[in-house]
Amino acid sequence: MSIRRRDLLGIRFLAKEDLEWLLSHSDQYFPNILSKDPVKKSTLLAGRTVANLFFENSTRTRTSFELAEKRLGADAVSLSMQTSSLSKGESLIDTVNVITAMKIDCIVVRHNAGGVPLLLRKHLPDHIRIINAGDGACEHPTQALLDAATLIEVMGSLPGKKIVIVGDILHSRVARSNIYLLKALGAEVTVVAPNTLMPKYIREVFDVEAHYDLDHVLAGKDAVMALRIQHERQGKGYIPSLGDFRKKYGLTPSRLSVTDAFILHPGPVNRSVELDDEAADAERSLILRQVGRGVAIRMAVLEWLFSEH
Ligand code: NCD
Repeated sequence: MSIRRRDLLGIRFLAKEDLEWLLSHSDQYFPNILSKDPVKKSTLLAGRTVANLFFENSTRTRTSFELAEKRLGADAVSLSMQTSSLSKGESLIDTVNVITAMKIDCIVVRHNAGGVPLLLRKHLPDHIRIINAGDGACEHPTQALLDAATLIEVMGSLPGKKIVIVGDILHSRVARSNIYLLKALGAEVTVVAPNTLMPKYIREVFDVEAHYDLDHVLAGKDAVMALRIQHERQGKGYIPSLGDFRKKYGLTPSRLSVTDAFILHPGPVNRSVELDDEAADAERSLILRQVGRGVAIRMAVLEWLFSEH
């Protein structure tokens, strides 16, 4: 039986077989991204138009989607929504309706409000596919998929592997999507944060281990995923200072010496806050590999949305 996959709204909506399909299909695209050969273009999405609607600043995610779309032969348009008609008072739904009236097949949306991709799903015609490129503190499904693909590549598999996610868990869509995905794939997830940046009831809601002391959990872990400290929220007094955060939660040389865990970060990295140079540039740092995997994962997502399988 063939089921048409319509949207990627969040990891929490996907079945394990879909997650595994996406991860394994991204493997076919990754070698070309690593190689010095000319890019291999496909015609899988020829005649399709994808609109990237970014209501929040983004460089790597937006570029990664654009490259994935073009490499599959789609026409891609990117709109910086800060300067769109929304600033003239038009509603979100009206703006998106105007764009889709130009014959668009797929919308990639990033917004600082959680739930926007679901809201668009309710209002847009059925045939338009929607991809969530990050909604508020809710989900960032392609980031979690690229993180998992990177981890599987270096560790072989995920079941039983011990992964730490450290930093601003409270505001992090990357953390939420990763918790859903890593747990679905059988990894053991521990989250670490200052108590002001730890969601209440996280143990009950997400069934993860939660700690406030990084040094307590670091030994014996297979990978550490550091999250960006959101400078834009520093005014709100969640942490005493960036220096204090580094001292307690940063991957410093002394912490590196007690673990040989792989190091991940979704970027952009605040050097000397979440990661010292020794961690960001370490041989076991996977940061640039994650970026390359990002294009391959987004190609697999587009393939999944536009093909019958
Ligand atoms: C993340 C995001 O925007 O959610 N970055 C990314 O997509 N590469 C993480 C962040 O900005 O903190």
